[in-house]
Amino acid sequence: MNDRFGRTITYLRLSLTERCTLKCAYCRAQDGDCPKKSELTLDEFLRITRAFAQIGVKKVRLTGGEPMLRRDLLQIISGIRAIPQIQEITMTTNGQHLPGMSPALRAAGLDRLNISVDSLKPEKFAKITGGGSLNLVLTGIEEAFAAGFPLVKLNVVLLRGVNDDETDDFIALTRDRNIQVRFIEYMPLGETDRAESRVTGAELLQKHPELVEIAPSYKGQPARDYQMPGYVGKVGLIDPMSHRFCADCNRVRVMSDGMLRPCLGYNQEFSLKEALDQEDDGALIAALQIAIVQKPQTHCFTEEFSAQKTMSRIGG
Ligand code: 5AD
Repeated sequence: MNDRFGRTITYLRLSLTERCTLKCAYCRAQDGDCPKKSELTLDEFLRITRAFAQIGVKKVRLTGGEPMLRRDLLQIISGIRAIPQIQEITMTTNGQHLPGMSPALRAAGLDRLNISVDSLKPEKFAKITGGGSLNLVLTGIEEAFAAGFPLVKLNVVLLRGVNDDETDDFIALTRDRNIQVRFIEYMPLGETDRAESRVTGAELLQKHPELVEIAPSYKGQPARDYQMPGYVGKVGLIDPMSHRFCADCNRVRVMSDGMLRPCLGYNQEFSLKEALDQEDDGALIAALQIAIVQKPQTHCFTEEFSAQKTMSRIGG
């Protein structure tokens, strides 16, 4: 389905839970906004996804909070896999619960993994994440490749004076294997903007002039892709602040509390709860269509933007 600016919505991001085991410096998940007992059920997530598939969604990403905290995660993945229109299922995780799980995720039908890792130094990693283990992430990456994931994307939110001294080390990870490191500009979500902490994509390119721009893998991708000559993997720059990619946006989000959010950087939301209470899917599809039509033309991340929610609530 198209929105009113002619953008075709093909990509659904499901935030399975707001709960998270980490408290990253720029996100700070809080407990209790949508407690476990209020989260959409397996059946509700599948019903919503089936309804979206009927109006043109082809790709689903599972996010959170930490999606791996859902006990029914494998059923959610296999349930989505059984929807014929859905061509790709991906998941963004903090990697803390990944060890031991990759074969089962793969078997359930997960196509790709994005793992958040903001430092390659164990102590700094623990500090940024509020106690996370880098070792678990690194083990998770190794196991993901061993289990047959063809590609692993690593999300790095660059913060000035915190981890921007590690860009060489991150880029080096792309030398021998199909790792895609994506440097993400810090977005003002859930707290006052700390513009001085933000490292822009332009700055990064200045620091690494050896990066060569390459063609995007698909139309509408938010990342601009680069590669080190001769390296196997890629480096992506995701610059929501300095480089707007809203014109090609193809996505909407549904959060664990049953709210549909047409745009990450815009506080408008639509409840799907009433429609979910009805047995027939007609009301649900109508609710999705109403929300898609309202999708704003651009996000409103500006110095004054006050996101009422952190990424842990909206879904990364
Ligand atoms: N700005 C930029 N990226 C963020 N993420 C979470 N909060 C922010 C923010 N304020 C990232 C996480 C994760 C992805 C889902 O979103 O690091 O990798």
